[in-house]
This record gives sequence, C-alpha cells and structure tokens, in this order.
Amino acid sequence: MTVNIALLGFGTVASGIPFLLKENGAKIISAANTDIAIAKVLVRDEAEKNSLLAQGHDYHFVTDILDIISDDSVQIVVELMGRIEPAKTFITQALQAKKHVVTANKDLLALHGAELLKVAADNQVALYYEAAVAGGIPILRTLANSYTSDKITKVLGVVNGTSNFMMTKMVDEGWTYDEALAEASRLGYAESDPTNDVDGIDAAYKMVILSQFAFGMTINFDDVRHEGIRHITPADVKLAQKLGFVIKLVGEIVERDSGIYAEVVPTFLPKSHQLATVNGVMNAVFVESIGIGEAMFYGPGAGQKPTAASVVADIIQLSHYISKSETAPAFNTFVRETVYAKKED
Ligand code: HSE
Repeated sequence: MTVNIALLGFGTVASGIPFLLKENGAKIISAANTDIAIAKVLVRDEAEKNSLLAQGHDYHFVTDILDIISDDSVQIVVELMGRIEPAKTFITQALQAKKHVVTANKDLLALHGAELLKVAADNQVALYYEAAVAGGIPILRTLANSYTSDKITKVLGVVNGTSNFMMTKMVDEGWTYDEALAEASRLGYAESDPTNDVDGIDAAYKMVILSQFAFGMTINFDDVRHEGIRHITPADVKLAQKLGFVIKLVGEIVERDSGIYAEVVPTFLPKSHQLATVNGVMNAVFVESIGIGEAMFYGPGAGQKPTAASVVADIIQLSHYISKSETAPAFNTFVRETVYAKKED
C-alpha cells in the first residue's frame, strides 16, 4: 500500500523531504509498513508553480488548498508554510477533513495549539510536531516518553539558533550586535524580519511547547517573560568574560509548588556550564530531573535536513497507524489540560 501525503509549501524544509524519503526508502517501508508518496504540493501561485517546474521539480503542484482538502486519497497534510495565517486555517480544514497533520510551526503550536489539538481529537485524527522545537533534536518525544519514569524539575534551553549564532560572534570575536545581525542575515539564519529571533519571542514559543512535554502542563505564551539580545553591548560581553561567564539567550522552565514558571532572558552562564559550550547556530536542551539527574540534548535547531528528518519521523509514525487501520495516538497524550502557569514576581 501507499500513504499519500500533501505538502503545504515547498521551501527549504519541505524540499528536504523527498531526499529523506528516497534515501531511507527500505527502512521507511519496514517502519511504516507502507510506502509513502508525495501526492500534491501546495504553492502560493502560478508563478511559483512555473518556477519550480522549470527547476525540474516533478510534483503535482496546486495553488488552491481545496484541491488537497477535498482529495480523499491524501491521508497526511504536512504544513511547512510557517507563521499563523493561512497555516492555521489550512490545518483546521485538513483536520476537519479527517486528515492527519504534521507541522514544524512553533508560532502556531504555542499560540493556538490547544485549539488545533481539540479539532484533531474531535475528528479522530492526530497533529504531530516534533520538528517545532530544536528542529533536528528529537526532544519532544524524548521528554514525553523517556522521562515517564522520572520527574523533571527544570528545563534550560538554547533554542534559537539565530540569536545563539549572534551571541557566539559577540562573545568569541567581539562583534557588535549590528555586525552579528548583518552576518546572520547574510548567511540566511535570520529571517527578513528577525524580530522573533532577537527579541526572544521564538525561544518563548518553544518554551511553551517544551513545558507541555517536560511538565505535562500547558503554559500561556503571555505568561512567559521574554527579553532578547538587542540591548547587549560589547561592554556587557567583556564584563561577563572578566567574571568567568558567557552571555547566552537562555529559556528556563521550572516547577514550583505554586505552578510552572517560564522565561527567556540573556543569561550569564558560568563558562563551566554545559550550555556555555553550545555555540553557533546549534541548539541544546538541558534537563534536570530526580532520576536521571542532569542531561543535555544537543544538535542542529534548524536547517533543511535536520528539520526534515524530524518531520519525516512524524510522517512515518502516522503512516504506520494508517497502514494498520489503527487510531493514531495524540502526540501530546501526556499533557494535562490545565492551564497552570504563573509569572515570576
Ligand atoms: N529562526 C529559528 C532559529 C529557526 O533561529 O532557531 C528554527 O526554529
């Protein structure tokens, strides 16, 4: 049998999916119990479609989401457009049409995850999003599954590659914020509007999602205090160095008796801390727990193949359930419904 998937968007990450499906074909068939085919690809308009065809991409490109929603042969929709709209509407429509959805969209999951997961549950389909946090690090399943025998007490994360690249240049090479941002933009790390990266918003979205998997609790984005790296000067960096610290943009989630607290702030990390060794665009999630103790999960947080690998892992898992005609379990089965978060005073 073949499971048919449709891609929404054909940017950097999406175009890595065919490579991984081909490269790992035999293993995928064994794990998913089925072949997986890209049936349709949604692009913005005729101009993008013609440009991709001219580049030799041989897919069934469509420009109207209804061509996918109304196609009963499409079983999984893979949303890789990013940001809120139209992604939110398209995902909702796909779930209501009883298609499973895979996405890497952290903005959407952090701000509207509860609503979308309810639409999925109401329609007996699943919404999977391993790639939404620290793209290439399989952190969400690890937290939800491998820590069931343990109790997590704190999570620290360097989860925004752009700001970490910039801070690394500012610390190691004495660059100014503006020089670091210019280089991050030149290398394509920073978005054309880098606000979410440099102001800690992207990292705060990821803290919201991590809190669900580490603590089983949903936290409101508005309750995550976030401050970015915009105001850090070479003098700040030098002072930190003199005192034996490095400055990094660090997200933290901690459980107290009264609830869970999350924040993203530029932090003085002792040079001996494992997170202080996470440089460039790399990401890391540092977990403290009663059983395992301290563990750090390190790897690429973005990029074509790392993010596509996490997306394809979700597709394979859903395909397995489809091929067995079994109900796919919710990705976040572990998460309790309560919104239970507080701001630090
Ligand atoms: N802009 C994000 C980052 C991409 O720099 O980490 C991955 O979420």
